Amino acid sequence: MPMDNIPVVNKIKTYDFLYFEIVGTCNAKCRFCVTGVSNHPKGGIIEVDKFQKAVDILFENKLIDCNTEFGLYNWGEPTLHPDLGKIIDVLQNKNLMYFLSTNAGKHVQYQPEWFKNMSGMRISMCGFSQESYNRIHGFNFEEVKKNIVSIVEVAEKASYNTHKICIAQHIYQFNTHEVSQLYEFSAKLNISFDPYYASINDPMMLRKYIDNRLEPQEWKEISQNIFCHFIQKRRDLHPRNYCYQFDILNLDERGNILPCCCLPRDHADYILTNIFDKNFMEVLGKWQPTETCRECIKAGLSPLKTLGDSFSFTNFTVPSEPSFVEVIYLVVKKIKRRSKMILHKVKKIFTKKGLNK
Ligand SMILES: C[S@@+](CC[C@H](N)C(=O)[O-])C[C@H]1O[C@@H](n2cnc3c(N)ncnc32)[C@H](O)[C@@H]1O
Ligand code: SF4
Ligand code: SF4
Repeated sequence: MPMDNIPVVNKIKTYDFLYFEIVGTCNAKCRFCVTGVSNHPKGGIIEVDKFQKAVDILFENKLIDCNTEFGLYNWGEPTLHPDLGKIIDVLQNKNLMYFLSTNAGKHVQYQPEWFKNMSGMRISMCGFSQESYNRIHGFNFEEVKKNIVSIVEVAEKASYNTHKICIAQHIYQFNTHEVSQLYEFSAKLNISFDPYYASINDPMMLRKYIDNRLEPQEWKEISQNIFCHFIQKRRDLHPRNYCYQFDILNLDERGNILPCCCLPRDHADYILTNIFDKNFMEVLGKWQPTETCRECIKAGLSPLKTLGDSFSFTNFTVPSEPSFVEVIYLVVKKIKRRSKMILHKVKKIFTKKGLNK
C-alpha cells in the first residue's frame, strides 16, 4: 500500500454497476452543472451499433455479466437519444437492468416494454413553478409536468412499480416553499419524492469554491442560489484514502473508458482508454489513482454515494374537504358525545337531589 494509504486499485473485475453516457449533451441550462451553460466541451450521441459493440466487448472481457446494472447517463440527458428504444433493446436482449435519470424537458413517447428491465428512474426537478424553471433548467414548467404525467401513465400501463420512479427536487434557496407542492404532485402520481440540497455540480467550480478562487460573479451566483452549509460537512465525512469511483466503470458516448464520472471532458485525466482500442484491457489493468485522485481525495472532494444531503420537510398541505359520508359520521359522533354529556349532567342533578332528601 502506498504512503498515503490509498489502496492499489484493480480495475479488471466484473462490475455491479457502470455509467454509460449515451448522450453527452443536454437541452437544459443548469448553471451549476458541467454540461448546462458551462464552458466545458459537450459530447455527442452514441450510435446504436457502437453501443451494441461496446456491450459485447464488455461481456467478452467479463467486465460485466448479466447482473450488471447500467446507468444510461453521466453528464448528459439520455432522453435526447433519437433511438433510445433501440439502446434499451440492446440491454433487454441481454437481460441487463438499467437506470435512467432525466430532466423530463423533452416529450418522449415511452413504451410499456421499456419498463421491463428498468431498475428505476430519477426525474430531476428544480422546483414547482415557472419562476424556478426560469432560474435553472430553462424549460416550460407546464410541459415538464405533462411529460412526467405521460411517463407515469405508460409505467402504469406496463404494471411497473411506480414507486421506483422518483422525483428528485434539487433544493435551492429559492424553491423551499415549493417542496410540499411537489410532494403532493408526486403523491398524486403515486411516485417517490426525494428533495435534497443542490450542490455545485461542476467539480471544477466546486474546487474553485473550496480554494477561494471563484470570480466575483460566480460567488454572487452561488451565494444567491445554493445552500452551501453542507459542503464542508460532506468534505469532513469523506474517507481520506478511498474513492467509490474505483469500483465503478464509466464510459462515454465515444467508448472512452473514464477513470471516474467526475472529471470534465477538458481535463487532462478525462480519458483512461477506449473500449475499441485493441490493448484497452492492458491499459485499464495498469490504471492506478493519479495525482489528480490524490488531490481530490485529500481535499474531500471525491463524491459521496448520495448526490446531496436530504432536505427534511413537513407536509403542511391543507386537508382536503371531507366527503358527505365523513360529514355525517362526524355529526353523528358529535351528537353522541353531546347526548352523553347531557345524560351525565342530568344523572348528576338527580343523584344530588336524591342525596338532599
Ligand atoms: C448531471 S445529471 C445527468 C442526468 C440528467 N440530465 C438529469 O439531470 O437527471 C446526473 C445527476 O446529477 C443530479 N444533479 C444535477 N444537478 C445537480 C445539482 N445541482 N446538485 C445535485 N445533484 C444534481 C441529477 O439529479 C442527476 O441524477
Ligand atoms: S443537471 Fe442534467 S439537466 Fe441539468 S444541465 Fe446537467 S445534464 Fe442537463
Ligand atoms: S478524480 Fe476524484 S472522483 Fe475521480 S476517481 Fe480520482 S479520486 Fe475519485
